[in-house]
Amino acid sequence: MSTTGSQRLKGRVAIITGAGRGIGFAIGQQFAREGAHVVVAEIDTDVVYQAATDLTALGTEALAYPIDISDLPQMRKMIADVVAKFGRLDIVVNNAGISNKAAFLEMTEPQWDDMQRINQRAVFFTMQEAAKQMIAQIPEAERGNDRQPFSRGKIINLSSIAGRRGRADALHYSVAKSAVITMTQGAAMALARYNINVNALCPSVVPTRMWDHLDAAMAAQNGLERGVWYKARVERVPLKRPGTVEEIAAMATFLASSDADYITGQTYNVDGGSELN
Ligand SMILES: NC(=O)c1ccc[n+]([C@@H]2O[C@H](COP(=O)([O-])OP(=O)(O)OC[C@H]3O[C@@H](n4cnc5c(N)ncnc54)[C@H](O)[C@@H]3O)[C@@H](O)[C@H]2O)c1
Repeated sequence: MSTTGSQRLKGRVAIITGAGRGIGFAIGQQFAREGAHVVVAEIDTDVVYQAATDLTALGTEALAYPIDISDLPQMRKMIADVVAKFGRLDIVVNNAGISNKAAFLEMTEPQWDDMQRINQRAVFFTMQEAAKQMIAQIPEAERGNDRQPFSRGKIINLSSIAGRRGRADALHYSVAKSAVITMTQGAAMALARYNINVNALCPSVVPTRMWDHLDAAMAAQNGLERGVWYKARVERVPLKRPGTVEEIAAMATFLASSDADYITGQTYNVDGGSELN
């Protein structure tokens, strides 16, 4: 067992959706090092159990929870199961997502609907269900107070710099990620009186399976060698390199910690300078 870090999340119970790999798994690692119990809410049964095993090896209690987060009854059952097991819920990271390209004139209804169901609808209802639990955890004597004295929960949503402006070749993705930004703002305002903080992150280019799939699709579509499109995309990042999953996870960990208690409704670009808003 190796507990490292400053234990900023000691004893907190965190659900991270899509934590089987990529950015979500890296967030799980940093949360675990900071002392949180982590629920790996992941659709891919090839990775969900190993991810939880790897997080447990960091000295935390991690739970593998195979789930399609866009199936709302499953999502609600998961939150109930997590509370039954750990007794509470303190942090939710809405990280699970899909990404693909579709030209404006060729976009199909299933492409559009799948994207909105997973990348935005699931985020809204997971925030709603998590917030109900976080509010229920407020001690009886303090309920009804107009202002809660300290943070009662943290919600962190993964948006994207694609949510900052409409993209011609992936408007379904842009729209979903832009909705995540406005949902973050609206939820933050709705939950401010309970002192539940809601914030979002916009990565740009972070090499994960998602980028691997995009590169493969773009190579096939444009007759390119694998990696050529990705390299050109990285060149457009002002810092001239891709981000790392650890750099995204560091920001998520800060936002989950009490260091960020006075921050809510914000969306941070963690993107090498790609966007300036
Ligand atoms: N990688 C980047 O450069 C980048 C840039 C901008 C935004 N993002 C966002 O960050 C998040 C994580 O991306 P990533 O690059 O780590 O992707 P990834 O594909 O490597 O990992 C995503 C994980 O989510 C899981 N998942 C997908 N649908 C799910 C569902 N319905 N229920 C449960 N789990 C599900 C996948 O199985 C996978 O393990 C996504 O929301 C993505 O849109 C990533």
